[in-house]
Amino acid sequence: MAAYRQALALSPRDAQARMGLDAVLERARTPRPNDLLRTALLEAYADDDANWDAVGWGAANQLAVGWPANGDLAALAADRLLLEFLRKSLNRDAGLERKLLALRQATAQALLSGTPPPAAVDLAAALAEQARMNESIWPEDETIPDGPAAAMYRPQSVVRLEVQEERRLAAEIPAIAPITDTVSQSVAAMYEVNPYPRWTHLPRRLRVDVRAALLRDFPHAAPIDFGGGPLSVLMPGAGTGQHPLTVASSYENAEVTCLDLSRASLAYGKRMAAKHGIENITFLNGDILDLPKLGRTFDHAECVGVLHHMADPRAGLLAISAALRPGAFLRLGLYGENARTIVVKARRDIEAAGLPATLAGLREFRRRVLSGEWRRLRPLQEWEDFWSASLLRDLCFHVQEHRFTVSRLRAFLAGSGLRFLGFEFNVGASQRADASAGPLALYATRFRHDRTMSDLANWEQLEREKSGLFPGYAFVCQKE
Ligand SMILES: C[S@@+](CC[C@H](N)C(=O)[O-])C[C@H]1O[C@@H](n2cnc3c(N)ncnc32)[C@H](O)[C@@H]1O
Repeated sequence: MAAYRQALALSPRDAQARMGLDAVLERARTPRPNDLLRTALLEAYADDDANWDAVGWGAANQLAVGWPANGDLAALAADRLLLEFLRKSLNRDAGLERKLLALRQATAQALLSGTPPPAAVDLAAALAEQARMNESIWPEDETIPDGPAAAMYRPQSVVRLEVQEERRLAAEIPAIAPITDTVSQSVAAMYEVNPYPRWTHLPRRLRVDVRAALLRDFPHAAPIDFGGGPLSVLMPGAGTGQHPLTVASSYENAEVTCLDLSRASLAYGKRMAAKHGIENITFLNGDILDLPKLGRTFDHAECVGVLHHMADPRAGLLAISAALRPGAFLRLGLYGENARTIVVKARRDIEAAGLPATLAGLREFRRRVLSGEWRRLRPLQEWEDFWSASLLRDLCFHVQEHRFTVSRLRAFLAGSGLRFLGFEFNVGASQRADASAGPLALYATRFRHDRTMSDLANWEQLEREKSGLFPGYAFVCQKE
């Protein structure tokens, strides 16, 4: 931590030092408050380049261990780390949520007393910001009347400027074709209400020549040179643009095309692109199935968390494959059957209880899980997507989901015109766990003759022996 902080003091915009320090802060846990950590966390919140989502984990720990026993409102309102955390990081800690709920109630009472201390007003604003980030997923309290305190409890009817802007942008986004597939229509309807994810901050990333990096990771890939022009990147199922904007701002010389069923999601991404001054990105509305209607091909594609939401994921894969030039890399992310056993149980319980996919239904689901009433689902609290309305809806209330095994992946890829290059174990994660150590090391010991680690039959055998091997499937293919 000291070395990264020193590097940042010398070169404040050094992405590698920033990412390294954020990874430390993300994992930092202490049994008692630690001044050095608090200072480093406050510095991270003052730095637009930092990953506030990641450092939020370390901040939550500092807040929890330093929480005043009497819950003193004035002391908490004076805690800059608490205010920054509430405004900038989504809380993902059940113990801290309980403390924050008590604080919310005390703050509301102070506001309703008529003469609130200024500290309560600051806290109320920060708690309202947290409610906006978690889309009011915390429990409702109907005794709180509409007015200043209500923003901490429920969505507000005032349409914020950015939402107005998104509505305007949504209407402008060109469509490749009307959406006719019935599953695609219901998936679109879901993301129109709950665009995924409602992210708020774009951390700085290292610039990367993605093709060179993939050739280093997968040296058995065919080294095809597309010439000096921009790398055309297709992002099918782009969602709200978090992943595409990271790609557009960090991949060398890239021109990104986003495609999604949901106009609301794309408009969110388009607004964020303008906010961050990112211009090498285009947004298109439509179904992956209609990609051939675009009449063009791409040099590279990334499609994470999407194909398992189609009625026929393989039809989606074939449409993407047809839109790629020979030699193009395709990075895919798909749900795993073993990793999602608990989600399958949740989906069954939700269905049996008839919980609707509304804010009230989502809140009721959380109440049952957090209170222990649905004890077997408690491990869901460990999932990053448990903590806001759109994340939770995507996690447990989805209208359509398929799950894969390595064996299903083999059949999925066979005859698609795509060659499997290998799994990735650390993409997307903000370097939290060194997951790569396990599966890749295991493969290397068991199948010494296959240095490429790309034989799906071998991976299938490993998965049979060790069912928890994959947290989901992130992998790279190359168009033949
Ligand atoms: C879980 S979100 C993932 C968003 C983004 N890829 C990410 O990783 O953050 C799934 C997205 O895929 C989109 N999607 C699902 N099926 C699609 C289809 N057939 N055509 C285009 N987009 C689709 C949804 O509208 C939604 O925005």
